[in-house]
Amino acid sequence: MRCLFLSAVCLALVVSVFSKDVRVLSEHKLRAYDETRMLFDFFESQVLVDPNSVRFVDEETVYRSQQGSSNTFSFTNCEDPKKEIAVPRDVSISPDPIRIPGTLTASGGILVKKPFGAPLKVALKVYKQLFGVWVEVPCIDGFGSCTYDDMCTKLAHVQCPPVFEKIGLPCKCPFKEGNWTVPPFQLDIKAQLPVKVSGAVKVHADVTYNGELVTCSEIVFDLA
Ligand SMILES: *[C@@H]1O[C@H](CO)[C@@H](O)[C@H](O)[C@H]1NC(C)=O
Repeated sequence: MRCLFLSAVCLALVVSVFSKDVRVLSEHKLRAYDETRMLFDFFESQVLVDPNSVRFVDEETVYRSQQGSSNTFSFTNCEDPKKEIAVPRDVSISPDPIRIPGTLTASGGILVKKPFGAPLKVALKVYKQLFGVWVEVPCIDGFGSCTYDDMCTKLAHVQCPPVFEKIGLPCKCPFKEGNWTVPPFQLDIKAQLPVKVSGAVKVHADVTYNGELVTCSEIVFDLA
């Protein structure tokens, strides 16, 4: 009887310690989710809607905007460009860290060797830095570290952000072949985030078209 009692206590202890760990873990994950989701919703609803907030600038302005940066920003092509259908190049966003509200300066280009479209499989891994630790953002409600079997179907129903059209970036399938350059531009972010978010965000994307590699890219940006 006593033995049974002890093992019951022991079991209760193990369960409570375990569930506490699980709870702490999911609190971090949920916070990482809330922060990144708010950030992306903010860009979608407040920043990318106004094409008048975009102006094209010269290289000198880009250079000046990059001074005093913290070097957190990075854009990595994680695959062999020779094997990729789409090869991004010289992707740059400044200032680093990005300030909201503030003025964002960006440029880049992409070489698309041949047309691609459905089925476009996109596997995303999204991370948010919390207290210096990368926390993976869970896939909830179609946002976060999700895998989309066909991004084309998803994109078919969305309106291309006006800012995308202004800078000449396509956002719908099928994507044509070509060597696109996004000229350096500045974007004024006038609105304020509903809640302050700071720390870095990392997005890793594995993209395939019919099983063929389109691109593997990873972007890290920091927020003041
Ligand atoms: C694509 O454009 C860039 C910038 O103009 C140029 O450096 C590069 O050589 C071009 N690539 C091809 C394959 O045309």
